[in-house]
Amino acid sequence: MTWSRLSTLFFAGVIGIAVIGYFVGLADGVPKATGIGEGIGRLGEHPTSLSAAVKVIPALRYAEIAGTAMGPTDAFQAAAKELPTSPYNLFAEIKLSATDKASSSEMRASRRAFNGAPPIIPHAVQNTTDAACYACHSNGMRMGELKASVMSHTFLANCTQCHAPPPPVPFQDADLSVDSTFVGLPAPTSGKRAFPGAPPTIPHSQWMREKCEACHGGPNGWAGMESTHPWRTNCTQCHAPSAKLDQATPADLIPMLPPLEIVGR
Ligand code: HEC
Ligand code: HEC
Ligand code: HEC
Ligand code: HEC
Repeated sequence: MTWSRLSTLFFAGVIGIAVIGYFVGLADGVPKATGIGEGIGRLGEHPTSLSAAVKVIPALRYAEIAGTAMGPTDAFQAAAKELPTSPYNLFAEIKLSATDKASSSEMRASRRAFNGAPPIIPHAVQNTTDAACYACHSNGMRMGELKASVMSHTFLANCTQCHAPPPPVPFQDADLSVDSTFVGLPAPTSGKRAFPGAPPTIPHSQWMREKCEACHGGPNGWAGMESTHPWRTNCTQCHAPSAKLDQATPADLIPMLPPLEIVGR
């Protein structure tokens, strides 16, 4: 008898607590017509002070967003005191000198069997792996007065299949010339222009010369051969490629479909 009385009281207590909890939950979480929770102010009004009890994150005005650290990365706010600057000034005025151009042309010619041939390696080579060559020749490494020329072509593996290293000791003085009747095209000195001041056409083929800036510009060009406008990147927008030297097949040689024969009825 005592046990059934006690269990009635116990379950009455449990039901009572559940009912109270239900109403407390409703009072806490249900949005009111004036806004969410206490202390936010009326709808449309920006909150000025929020009590710690309020569980909503205050919305910001658009104007405030830029100057407010927010979210999980709020500790990463950009405070670049000094942006990295390029050691090369792309917009510095470039004065071309005819003597520089002549001496550059002469040095280039001395290292090539003919214009467009792969230049020989003019220095001793200890390590003939691509990675070793690429370390100096990808970005124009500077060593004192010397500058490693930038590759004018895209990365091609096995550099020494085309670029001949100097002969090994004791064969440096051996005469390696071979009689040949081959005569290469002469190196160009300038491109044709439609009128003075017009962009010159490209007087050489673009084969193995995809990287124009390797010879003509920026920090890596050959002295006297730089373009005065290294910041313009789409070179062939203005400089017309040579159809003849790029070995494009002349249109009248391409065996197109025979002309249509229209037979009148
Ligand atoms: C330690 C840096 C370094 C390494 C490694 C190196 N070179 Fe050079 N290379 C130079 C420098 C500097 C010059 C310019 C020398 C000069 O102008 O007298 C040069 C010049 C050249 C040239 C002549 C370019 C021209 O247009 O006249 C070629 C070709 C060349 N190197 C190919 C190679 C190849 C292939 C390798 C790998 C087997 C290689 N180099 C490894 C620094 C390097
Ligand atoms: C398939 C042959 C071939 C391979 C492989 C090759 N090159 Fe060349 N390279 C050439 C030719 C051809 C030229 C000359 C382009 C011209 O003057 O028209 C050249 C030009 C160059 C130049 C001189 C650019 C200038 O200023 O005139 C350098 C430096 C050079 N190559 C470095 C390398 C390096 C480093 C490698 C290996 C990662 C390599 N080449 C692989 C054929 C090759
Ligand atoms: C391997 C080196 C090399 C590369 C790479 C190269 N050129 Fe040249 N270019 C020369 C040489 C050498 C000349 C003749 C000397 C001169 O006029 O500066 C020349 C001449 C020119 C001229 C005529 C300049 C004048 O004064 O009349 C134009 C335009 C030109 N090149 C455009 C280009 C463009 C565009 C590219 C890239 C698709 C390119 N070149 C890539 C070596 C190069
Ligand atoms: C918006 C058009 C335009 C673009 C893009 C352009 N050039 Fe030129 N370029 C010219 C004109 C115009 C001249 C003639 C300038 C003169 O005679 O004063 C010229 C001249 C040159 C010359 C002869 C030397 C000089 O500066 O007078 C070279 C070499 C050259 N350009 C190379 C290049 C290369 C390499 C690129 C790409 C990096 C390039 N150009 C992009 C218009 C352009």
